[in-house]
Amino acid sequence: MIAIAVDGPASSGKGTVARRVAQLLDYQYVDTGAMYRTVGLLCLRQGVDVRDAAASADVARHIDFAFAFREGALVVYADGEDVSTIIRGEAVGAAASAVAVHPPVRSALLGLQRALGAAGRVVMDGRDIGTVVLPRAQLKIYLDASLDERARRRHAELPGRSYADVRAELAARDAQDMGRASAPLCAAADAVHLDSTRLSIDAVVAEVVRLARERGA
Ligand code: DC
Repeated sequence: MIAIAVDGPASSGKGTVARRVAQLLDYQYVDTGAMYRTVGLLCLRQGVDVRDAAASADVARHIDFAFAFREGALVVYADGEDVSTIIRGEAVGAAASAVAVHPPVRSALLGLQRALGAAGRVVMDGRDIGTVVLPRAQLKIYLDASLDERARRRHAELPGRSYADVRAELAARDAQDMGRASAPLCAAADAVHLDSTRLSIDAVVAEVVRLARERGA
């Protein structure tokens, strides 16, 4: 009955790893990035400026979130609408990173994230899970990969875009997520660092499951 926190930069593989570890342990998977993405999506749709902290927090506070699992994948509902696919777009990702800078947006989502983690048996991924959301998680993973490797992965999913553009956007997202004042992306002092640049996703999953079992999962 442990909680597992998985943090790391965009395209480090943390979502895939967290989802697969949750399946193997029969734990619940919680994707906190999906919540920030949903706030970003609704700001874009409602014409709310993502640089406006108060207005984007107001959007965040009024979303009625629900989560479900379909074939092992997290399904996110916002006000009854399944937004799981639409939140994956690049523009929504950039909007998510922009609204995530604002402390009132973060605090609007924090209670919900903590509630989802409170019962244990959860693998939660994001940027600040080990440091802020679940500071008492029994296992904290910081999953990294080089910028070039992450850009290569993301580019493979977006063949219409140039590698240089994809890499530059990823670097900008890293800078925004790591450089913000409130809950920046960083490894918790007690996090286990894993690097998926050379380790396969299978190897990372196996190592996280091994560590989880060692800690009581
Ligand atoms: O993991 P992701 O790419 O889906 O997350 C989208 C953005 O949401 C990310 O660029 C920063 C923000 N985020 C955050 O600030 N804190 C989290 N715990 C998860 C995501």
